[in-house]
Amino acid sequence: MTQHSFRYTIVGFGNVGSAVARHAAERAERLRKRYGIDLRLVGAVDSTAAAWDERGLDATALAEWRESGRKLREWPGAIRPGDANQLLERGVECVVVALPTNRETGEPGLTWARAAIAAGAHVVLADKGPALLALPELEAEAAARGLRVGASATVGSALPTLTVARREMAGGEIREIAAILNGTTNMILTLMRDEGLSFGEALSRAQAAGVAEPDPSYDVEGWDTAVKLTILSRALLDPSLSLDAVARRGIDEIPDEVAAAAAEGRGRIRLVGRARRDAEGTTLTVAPEVVAEGDPFYLVDGLLKAAKFVSDDFGELAVLGGASGRRDVAAAILKDIIEVTRP
Ligand SMILES: NC(=O)c1ccc[n+]([C@@H]2O[C@H](COP(=O)([O-])OP(=O)(O)OC[C@H]3O[C@@H](n4cnc5c(N)ncnc54)[C@H](OP(=O)(O)O)[C@@H]3O)[C@@H](O)[C@H]2O)c1
Repeated sequence: MTQHSFRYTIVGFGNVGSAVARHAAERAERLRKRYGIDLRLVGAVDSTAAAWDERGLDATALAEWRESGRKLREWPGAIRPGDANQLLERGVECVVVALPTNRETGEPGLTWARAAIAAGAHVVLADKGPALLALPELEAEAAARGLRVGASATVGSALPTLTVARREMAGGEIREIAAILNGTTNMILTLMRDEGLSFGEALSRAQAAGVAEPDPSYDVEGWDTAVKLTILSRALLDPSLSLDAVARRGIDEIPDEVAAAAAEGRGRIRLVGRARRDAEGTTLTVAPEVVAEGDPFYLVDGLLKAAKFVSDDFGELAVLGGASGRRDVAAAILKDIIEVTRP
């Protein structure tokens, strides 16, 4: 098979960035054999410096460097990052943006994504900030230059959502989205039900297992689900929607009637994000709900996720799976990289 050399850079070399470097290196042989892609990591950027080598960096060594707690300014030959444009002028085909999420400004990821497109590179986002504020706009900017934007890791990672709705329901009009998009809250709800734990007990258990963050508010208050729902809704329903439009309730305040319905065996509690479009406009909600047996969401326990899309031409389509984990996120990003290389 003819080999196509494909240079990529990871901007934001933390947990996700280093996992992508490691995973892509582990899959290098498979990519060459199956897709004819000779994938080369030529740059990695953290807040201190950039490692850069046009011939290709040792991605596994770089990932180990990061995992051992070292910064890139200590990497032999590291360069001061300067601004995005200077680095990208060195030439890359794809930029993975794995910077911390800023849901108010999208920065610094948004600037990097725009600079990458302006420099002629495809963009793969893990950072939800640029996806939340500007995914349709970035996609348009990219398309005008014959480039693509991947955003799987911002909307469910290993659970395919955006691509399923767009590709498998092409030609139809999406009317409704319902989704379980946060593995941490789903795990806490599963522990509460299976082991009869209170919310606080289940949260502590999830924190001890490294599933929930020390500050769990972003997940348990429903922010993460709201952000992902907004990204999906802007891309699939209406680009004028914003995070402010989401009526949000987390699993830290499960309404009595929901708890009672679950206790009476009428179903299982899930944190569900919903977007509904009708003649009046689009309504976005995130809230704990009781899901009855027979609904596909009933089966979604632990770290699994799920999404349902309802369209005029295709009816309802549901996808289930996509457990949350470092490997799963890295695999979703590598999938996007493979996808943007396709002719
Ligand atoms: N963790 C997940 O499972 C997951 C799943 C899907 C999406 N995401 C998203 O992926 C992104 C990265 O998450 P993470 O867990 O990898 O975060 P992280 O471990 O905190 O890594 C962030 C990286 O960005 C670097 N950085 C911060 N500010 C920078 C700047 N101004 N210029 C250059 N580099 C900068 C940091 O450098 P320093 O190390 O020098 O501070 C670090 O290397 C987030 O937006 C997150 O929401 C995460």
